[in-house]
Amino acid sequence: MATQSSSTPEKSRGAFSSRRVFILAAIGSAVGLGNIWRFPYVAYENGGGAFILPYIVALLTAGIPFLFLDYALGHRFRGSAPLSFARLRRGAEGLGWWQVGICFVIAVYYAVIIAWALRYTFFSVDKAWGDDPNGFFFGDFLEAGDPGVTVDIVPGVLVPLLLVWLVLIVVLVLGVQKGIGATAAIFIPVLILAFGALVVRALFLPGAGAGLDTLFTPSWAALAEPSVWVAAFGQIFFSLSIGFGIMITYASYVDRDTDMVGSGLVVGFANSGFELLAGIGVFAALGFMAQASGKAVDEVASGGIGLAFVAFPAIISEAPAGALIGVLFFGSLVIAGLTSLISVIEVVVSAVRDKFALSRVAATMVVALPAALVSLVLFSTTSGVYVLDIADHFINQFGILLVAVVSMVVVAWVLRALPLLADHLNLTGSVHLGTWWRALVMVITPVALAIVLVDAFRTDVQTPYGDPSAPFPAWMLGVFGWGTAAAVLVFGFLAAMVPWARHDALADPDPSPSGRHVEKGAEA
Ligand code: ALA
Repeated sequence: MATQSSSTPEKSRGAFSSRRVFILAAIGSAVGLGNIWRFPYVAYENGGGAFILPYIVALLTAGIPFLFLDYALGHRFRGSAPLSFARLRRGAEGLGWWQVGICFVIAVYYAVIIAWALRYTFFSVDKAWGDDPNGFFFGDFLEAGDPGVTVDIVPGVLVPLLLVWLVLIVVLVLGVQKGIGATAAIFIPVLILAFGALVVRALFLPGAGAGLDTLFTPSWAALAEPSVWVAAFGQIFFSLSIGFGIMITYASYVDRDTDMVGSGLVVGFANSGFELLAGIGVFAALGFMAQASGKAVDEVASGGIGLAFVAFPAIISEAPAGALIGVLFFGSLVIAGLTSLISVIEVVVSAVRDKFALSRVAATMVVALPAALVSLVLFSTTSGVYVLDIADHFINQFGILLVAVVSMVVVAWVLRALPLLADHLNLTGSVHLGTWWRALVMVITPVALAIVLVDAFRTDVQTPYGDPSAPFPAWMLGVFGWGTAAAVLVFGFLAAMVPWARHDALADPDPSPSGRHVEKGAEA
């Protein structure tokens, strides 16, 4: 471990002005597309009401303990993901860059979904999809052909995507407090109000009860299926923004005397609360749709892209005050997505800043301009939706979950750093991290995640990912799926070989609560 020094170059990194702003920013990161469009369908597909059990088990045994691990690394070592790992042990830096690579990949496609949602917020007003939301989304809007890759740009996607990147750049240039913190402080309350209003509206639609019955009727047999547990653990990691550098980065901007354990509990339960709310709202609306079209709820329910951009437009067309429902739903997606995307790209910006000792503006440009370019070139084309689907699937499984399990094993077993990290959080924490935490992070979570990963790997090898009726060409799965997941890993370990610009970058910061090296608002 590096030696202690009080002259760490952290003064200019920026900081959240208070615990409240940090918690809002962390909730802003956690609550994202994963909560609104992923959770309801994952829950429904994996046992409905019975899914709540594996979900809570995954939250308590893996999600929250891992969140504490991320917080401890960032808060103790006061750095971006690579810097925090490198300060823990020089040889562990590659883990941080691996996470940075994952964030880069997520950012370039996540931005596109926000761009779609932005367009759909406006489409909702006059129900631009007419009576064929499916044909409109894939045909008129995305101009998608057969699975493959094209360079035909779709202006209707390009323009909102440019706007999304512009907003991101402005927020990131403004810095930790004035950009990230202020955005969360304004938009999280707006999101809660907008989404809350949507859920209340949905609950009063005729047929809502049938939708909720479908979501919450437990299929207990599902609990015996490993894939249900796989889904629960997968959902928790993506949804809580853990394992891919975000919470390490945000924790590094928090005052030393902040109660990180208590804050983590607030963030973890707020995220899951929002997820449940989304499940209720979405299934109430699907129940209405089923009744209106004389079908069963499972015939109108669909996941991911289909849920947001096909099923919801159909609901908006049918429901009284549908335009309002549309604006609230897509507006919520835009806000929830943006506050998450900001955190994803901040992982890359802060890593580049720390490594090359750049100003915030320079680091933002070095990261965001190439990311925007990749995002535009790959995803604003007529084939963007396919590339997105593949990248999302593989980077979640063989990026986030894999790096999470590897970093846990390295930190807990190779570096034996858990006592140090627990002691650090216990200095200020309102809940004591004792043997129970170490047991979870050393044994239970890695074992659970390893099982999840092996199962996911077996499934993807046995059955190529995608819709069997319109299969992806094998080379696409190779390049944008397996290849991308492998490339970020290789990138991580190569980036770790690049020397740090500051000779004292790896000096160990003063960990004591009173050692306030972070100067609020003082950001270069
Ligand atoms: N945690 C973010 C989400 O749920 C990334 O979408």
